[in-house]
Amino acid sequence: MKTLLIVYHTRGVKTTQLAEAVAKGAGGEPDVRVRLLRCVDAGPQDVLGADAIVLGTPENFGYMSGMMKDFLERIFYECEGKVAGRPWALLVSAGQDGAGAISSVERIVTGLRLKKVQEPILALKEVTPEILARCEELGAALAAGLVLGVY
Ligand SMILES: Cc1cc2nc3c(=O)[nH]c(=O)nc-3n(C[C@H](O)[C@H](O)[C@H](O)COP(=O)(O)O)c2cc1C
Repeated sequence: MKTLLIVYHTRGVKTTQLAEAVAKGAGGEPDVRVRLLRCVDAGPQDVLGADAIVLGTPENFGYMSGMMKDFLERIFYECEGKVAGRPWALLVSAGQDGAGAISSVERIVTGLRLKKVQEPILALKEVTPEILARCEELGAALAAGLVLGVY
């Protein structure tokens, strides 16, 4: 059994929609356990126990959300050197930009040496059906990749 961990923060609904769509896409794979956790509920043991990780955050003040930064601060040193090569992907919801959230998360995750499986999914202004479909495809691809051992 493989584990896909999705960790996200939201103060509204959009990042939740993205994260839930990834979980839905991965849900068709019986050999993958999907764990959908808010940043506040997730910690280093969750990351260490995950075979793939998806992070989701709104862009706040040109950066990742404060709760995502808190999560990364709490897990970084316990996970550094222990999760290298595991696949990860990023979901961002933003009002008009998103670049600051993307670059800030990617810079920190670079230190964990995770393997980025695709470019971030960015929902600007609204979460469209096309964006949700891309999130579901990401979940399905990660789940299939874990089962097939392609990572
Ligand atoms: C305090 C605050 C700061 C924000 N700063 C930015 C920003 O710098 N750039 C941007 O594009 N959107 C910004 N937004 C808009 C949010 O990123 C956007 O509404 C996002 O979709 C919210 O996602 P959520 O529904 O998951 O909370 C900000 C929103 C709030 C509440």
